[in-house]
Amino acid sequence: MPLLDGSVGVEDLVLLEPLVEESLLQNLQLRYESKEIYTYIGNVVISVNPYQQLPIYGPEFIAKYQDYTFYELKPHIYALANVAYQSLKDRDRDQCILITGESGSGKTEASKLVMSYVAAICGKGEQVNSVKEQLLQSNPVLEAFGNAKTIRNNNSSRFGKYMDIEFDFKGSPLGGVITNYLLEKSRVVKQLKGERNFHIFYQLLAGADAQLLKALKLERDTTGYAYLNQEVSRVDGLDDASSFRAVQSAMAVIGFSEEEIQQVLEVTSMVLKLGNVLVADEFQANGTPASGIRDGRAVREIGETVGLNSEELERALCSRTMETAKEKVVTTLNVMQAQYARDALAKNVYSRLFDWIVNRINESIKVGIGEKKKVMGVLDIYGFEILEDNSFEQFVINYCNEKLQQVFIEMTLKEEQEEYKREGIPWTKVDYFDNGIICNLIEHNQRGILAMLDEECLRPGVVSDSTFLAKLNQLFSKHGHYESKVTQNAQHQYDHTMGLGCFRICHYAGKVTYNVTNFIDKNNDLLFRDLSQAMWKAQHPLLRSLFPEGNPKQASLKRPPTAGAQFKSSVAILMKNLYSKNPNYIRCIKPNEHQQRGQFSSDLVATQARYLGLLENVRVRRAGYAYRQGYGPFLERYRLLSRSTWPHWNGGDREGVEKVLGELSMSSGELAFGKTKIFIRSPKTLFYLEEQRRLRLQQLATLIQKIYRGWRCRIHYQLMRKSQILISAWFRGNVQKKHYGKIKASVLLIQAFVRGWKARKNYRKYFRSEAARTLADFIYKSMVQKFLLGLKNNLPSTNILDVVTKTWPAAPYKCLSTANQELRQLFYQWKCKRFRDQLSPKQVEILREKLCASELFKGKKASYSQSVPIPFCGDYIGLQGNPKLQKLKGGEEGPVLMAEAVKKVNRGNGKTSSRILLLTKGHVILTDTKKFQAKIVIGLDNVTGVSVTSLKDGLFSLHLSELSSVGSKGDFLLVSEHVIELLTKMYQAVLDATQRQLAVTVTEKFSVRFKENSVAVKVIQGPAGGDNSKLHCKKKGSRCLEVTVQ
Ligand SMILES: Nc1ncnc2c1ncn2[C@@H]1O[C@H](COP(=O)(O)OP(=O)(O)O)[C@@H](O)[C@H]1O
Ligand SMILES: [Mg+2]
Repeated sequence: MPLLDGSVGVEDLVLLEPLVEESLLQNLQLRYESKEIYTYIGNVVISVNPYQQLPIYGPEFIAKYQDYTFYELKPHIYALANVAYQSLKDRDRDQCILITGESGSGKTEASKLVMSYVAAICGKGEQVNSVKEQLLQSNPVLEAFGNAKTIRNNNSSRFGKYMDIEFDFKGSPLGGVITNYLLEKSRVVKQLKGERNFHIFYQLLAGADAQLLKALKLERDTTGYAYLNQEVSRVDGLDDASSFRAVQSAMAVIGFSEEEIQQVLEVTSMVLKLGNVLVADEFQANGTPASGIRDGRAVREIGETVGLNSEELERALCSRTMETAKEKVVTTLNVMQAQYARDALAKNVYSRLFDWIVNRINESIKVGIGEKKKVMGVLDIYGFEILEDNSFEQFVINYCNEKLQQVFIEMTLKEEQEEYKREGIPWTKVDYFDNGIICNLIEHNQRGILAMLDEECLRPGVVSDSTFLAKLNQLFSKHGHYESKVTQNAQHQYDHTMGLGCFRICHYAGKVTYNVTNFIDKNNDLLFRDLSQAMWKAQHPLLRSLFPEGNPKQASLKRPPTAGAQFKSSVAILMKNLYSKNPNYIRCIKPNEHQQRGQFSSDLVATQARYLGLLENVRVRRAGYAYRQGYGPFLERYRLLSRSTWPHWNGGDREGVEKVLGELSMSSGELAFGKTKIFIRSPKTLFYLEEQRRLRLQQLATLIQKIYRGWRCRIHYQLMRKSQILISAWFRGNVQKKHYGKIKASVLLIQAFVRGWKARKNYRKYFRSEAARTLADFIYKSMVQKFLLGLKNNLPSTNILDVVTKTWPAAPYKCLSTANQELRQLFYQWKCKRFRDQLSPKQVEILREKLCASELFKGKKASYSQSVPIPFCGDYIGLQGNPKLQKLKGGEEGPVLMAEAVKKVNRGNGKTSSRILLLTKGHVILTDTKKFQAKIVIGLDNVTGVSVTSLKDGLFSLHLSELSSVGSKGDFLLVSEHVIELLTKMYQAVLDATQRQLAVTVTEKFSVRFKENSVAVKVIQGPAGGDNSKLHCKKKGSRCLEVTVQ
């Protein structure tokens, strides 16, 4: 039931009102004009050829149809393919998809849609994909070799094809088997007006590159080939060149090796060239007509291509060896016979090549033995054909269609109605046409047309097509579905459409007049043995393998089965195969004869609808039930829906089914209980049941999961609990053990103490008190004694002049190390005191001066360290013995502390001049070195400070108080070689004289007063290595004096 709103007409003809032919056609037309080409009758799909590409195919639609059930979306071939595939997968039922309809009604396209749908939705994976690819790629190859342009269809299949796709239990494709039926091989040598030979010839010429053409000795121009119809070498909408490339790559995908492809093309080109073998009249010596090859080129080229001796081929084409048990007779053939032989060879080579290709494909896609498989068969067989001139081919094609119609009738109309009767379901019979009688007419083993034909072929004596016809006329003179000129005459009918050499059969799909000409020949399908033997001798492996009977060792005189008999038996096998599977129908309808889009010829469609039995189909469907199944399997599938039947049911199957369906409260009209089966009227109900089952399965899965999870958790918990108990038991035990150990140790300790205490208490009276301290004192004292005695013996040298030895013995006990340190210090202090005590007052004075110098300059001035070892001698100019110099002292009392030659730096220009400096207790006296008279006398109380550099130089500045008479002129900048001694003595003299500490500043930058101004002195370290006393003054401007010292 269509669930979609806005559908055009009715989507399922079961719902059609009123149910008459007119409304059925109107409905189809209405839908066709709205581009709704698919319509259902229940689960049968009717497809009306749109002759245009509609946007209703492709992955998007495939995905959609995969997700919905049959009636939920618009009618589509995908929906049918989906049902078939799902049923195959879920219900394990082999399926077949029967596509029927006239030639050009869209069967092949429908079969491709089914295959592409199944390929898209079935399993995935590398291997599966390669199988799918191979299955899909078999199409272009088979179409190239087996399809041709006909008047009705530009891509008409000229062979029947049944393809079994085999799946594993998961529904992934494993491979397949292709069966082909009777290729229309007469097309190889002759085509009707407006038709073409098989596609591959045109594809090869158009698509092969120059190199390949050359290798095959072909020319691109189709006009050069007698077998190719010259009028229509191109077909609109077909691109031969690109199809050729597609065929080549498809063959490679399927697994053809490069050599195999090459060989196939070589044999194909051989067939083409056979057409160019021209036979001409010749006469033998005795005057009987014979034949010969006129232009040897074609034969030569064939010979070169397939490795065949061209003379041998020529002989085989133009003569015939008759062989009896006793002798061999060679007869020459006349031109007609030779042409016949040539064409027969071409047809045979081509049709055998086609069979070989099908077998080769089967080899690639075949499934390994032993793999359990399910099968989906797709049947795309040539459609019913009524041509102007119908021959043997049309006869077998139409016979096959007749059989398919029979399958349809048997399985949908007859079987169904009979089943209702059998099962005791109330039923009003629907009439339909049963074509069994026509099938019988053709195929009856003794009295069928095919049997008659075989009989004629095998009968000794003069046999011809007309003797065959005469036989038919005689046998079927009264048959309702057989007519001929003779039977018509007998009934005094006049029919100008009936030729003399014709008979007519009223097929289910219409009357067809067959011309008996060549029936015998085509049925015999004779190929002279000379030709098959010649082919077998070819070097070409493929060609050779096509003619096994040419092997003289295998030669048999037995006739091969006739074409008709072969076809009949393969159709019988096919029928058996189809009956064993669940059928799914696609009924194709051709809307017009002109391959025009949008044109809907009611008459044409009405004819087809009539013979397809669409109305009857709808009637049976309407009154009938969509689904039936035995009680057993039905109960097995659905018993989980009821609590009474699940999980255990002990009653009978039927009661069980009643119980299940009763609980689901189905409406009574929906169900019918037969004797062995349950019938369900509408698919909706079935879908409902399936949905319920799916939900229930989910519930059950959840239940199983729940119980399993619960069980797993419980086991886990129990394990954890057991482990926990074990761990805590061990832990507690351990704690207790430790605790006990502690208590035990404590008890023992207490016991020991108590025992000790008791023992001491008992024995105390025997001990003297204070003994321990006395002992300790004694021990300590003896340690000290030992220490001191050891120290005495190891004392370092007491010689005061020995300052080198500073070792001191280590304390024997650690507790005495502090005392030891103190003793060491005492020792050295004592040694120092002894040294000091033995010094004379003068030495003391000298050392005091040295001490003062160290306090003033140690670590401050670089030249200090040099001055340390040199004793201060005070007089450096020999003052003592020089009364002249003594005078300089003037009236000054006391000794001269320091007498030295110094340099005075002229503050004005930086030049130096020599002076003698005397330091007395109260003054500093500067005199000229030559004149020896005091030039400047400076009272020490006027000296405010001195500045020296930190370097090794002797420069110093004498800062004077401004108030003094000398000082008003400014400070002195002097250079002394004994600057450390001089300044130390000056410091002490100032301290003695004025109780004031002279400020001694160590700096590189100081300022000296010069009259009223001050001059900044900057001392710079000159390059090393010069004379210490050298210094160089440079005036920089009026306020700056730069002194470079070494
Ligand atoms: N579903 C379709 N969509 C579009 N065109 C179609 C469809 N079915 C058939 N045709 C057209 O009709 C032509 C004949 O179809 P085909 O399947 O070869 O017919 P049949 O096999 O019945 O002889 C195709 O070549 C194509 O052009
Ligand atoms: Mg076809």
